[in-house]
Amino acid sequence: MKNTVIINTDVEKGIINKNIYGQFAEHLGRCIYEGLWVGENSPIPNTNGIRNDVLEALKNINVPVLRWPGGCFADEYHWKDGVGPREQRKRMVNTHWGGVIENNHFGTHEFMQLCELLDCEPYICGNVGSGTVQEMSEWVEYMTLNGESPMADWRKENGREEPWNLTYFGVGNENWGCGGNMRPEYYADLYRRYQTYVRNYGKNKIYKIAGGANVDDYRWTEVLMREAHWLMDGLSLHYYTIPGDFWLGKGSATDPRAEEWFVTMKKALHMDELITKHSTIMDKYDPAKRIGMIIDEWGTWFDVEPGTNPGFLYQQNTIRDALVAGVHFHIFHKHSDRVQMTNIAQAVNVLQAMVLTEGEKMLLTPTYHVFEMFKVHQDATKLDIETIVEEYEMNGEKLPSVSASASKDANGKIHISLCNLNHQAESTVNIDLRGLYDGIAKISGRILTADKPNEHNTFEQPEVVKPVEFKSFTVFNSELTVILPAMSVVVLAVE
Ligand code: AHR
Repeated sequence: MKNTVIINTDVEKGIINKNIYGQFAEHLGRCIYEGLWVGENSPIPNTNGIRNDVLEALKNINVPVLRWPGGCFADEYHWKDGVGPREQRKRMVNTHWGGVIENNHFGTHEFMQLCELLDCEPYICGNVGSGTVQEMSEWVEYMTLNGESPMADWRKENGREEPWNLTYFGVGNENWGCGGNMRPEYYADLYRRYQTYVRNYGKNKIYKIAGGANVDDYRWTEVLMREAHWLMDGLSLHYYTIPGDFWLGKGSATDPRAEEWFVTMKKALHMDELITKHSTIMDKYDPAKRIGMIIDEWGTWFDVEPGTNPGFLYQQNTIRDALVAGVHFHIFHKHSDRVQMTNIAQAVNVLQAMVLTEGEKMLLTPTYHVFEMFKVHQDATKLDIETIVEEYEMNGEKLPSVSASASKDANGKIHISLCNLNHQAESTVNIDLRGLYDGIAKISGRILTADKPNEHNTFEQPEVVKPVEFKSFTVFNSELTVILPAMSVVVLAVE
């Protein structure tokens, strides 16, 4: 059987929200400190304390939105400790992540500056678990009120005259777990109360995100939607791709075994079922799909690299992670009528990171390269697509071998992204671009692949896995035949 992809280039399916390509940065391990923030006096080149190499790398993938300060850290964070002169800021223990001292040098002003430098939207997660309504309310006032008020005056004293624009605000994080171990009924009531005081000041209009379900906790979604859907703009969902068991052993990031590859792909594809089922519940209360599903934590979660702090969640990143990212984007595109934002966990040095750092060194991961290759889909128009593909089998289980998505940009250029999930065999794909009556005039491609399933970049060899030109295709009128090597991600540009 051949793999067939039919793209109806004249059937448009809405916009792929660029925020699907969002990032997440938590006060966890070496994400903020060392990864993003080195301080103004660091020998590592920086802009007001933010390291330049990481900044440039992240700029190059057009980060649309950045979530901060957590994660579990968010429900222990007291924002007032992180403003004012840095040397006077309160030091706290980051109890959740390694018990290290948090000096609060990276706070609201530093985060907002990072967003300005990245030209991205801030997405701030407030503290419901251990914070008060007043504290949350005053944070929003501090950031967004233009004029005179106790919090706006304090912001000005701290060096920022103008308010910031703040669109996305999360009312708590994982309130079923680290954010308070709550029942959905209790959290729904708290959500209703806390969000009341998340005010819109002046022209600033906040998009309020309620803390959503863990994986397949459909009851959580049902209760939240039933009790508070009219008070929310978004409802979150968290799902991590963990090949092993969360408590007994997640698996190594660089495990070369075929079984590990297969189970990782299977678990990555599970995202499709989760979105479908949670969406169905949301549809019941919100058939017009006003409320966005905000998948503000996703990605691979492996055992930490040997010898590193278990509380720092530092893991390597291989071609397997690249395939996980590609497959997720195709699923998010498929559900782009409901999925308005996603935030991979996390941007730097934590879980499925874009970049890894070691002192002054930095490397780009295979996952980074997928974000860079796929940025052409950001805010592009999704095209109707049908895929009929071979199955790829292991130990009696079957997965589709190829996944694909297509979009048209503002200039009419079509981008087709393809993933060959099969780690052992190439896949030949026939692509029928229906509606391109004059045929294909111009085509180019890039590929990310590797020889081994655990291939990755290191500080000694940072360019083992990187995109290169792709030419394994033939064109006949408006049809394409593409040969995808085993474990590859390809993006084609067609005119
Ligand atoms: O991303 C790491 C952690 O995973 C987050 O802090 C938490 O929200 C989730 O459990």
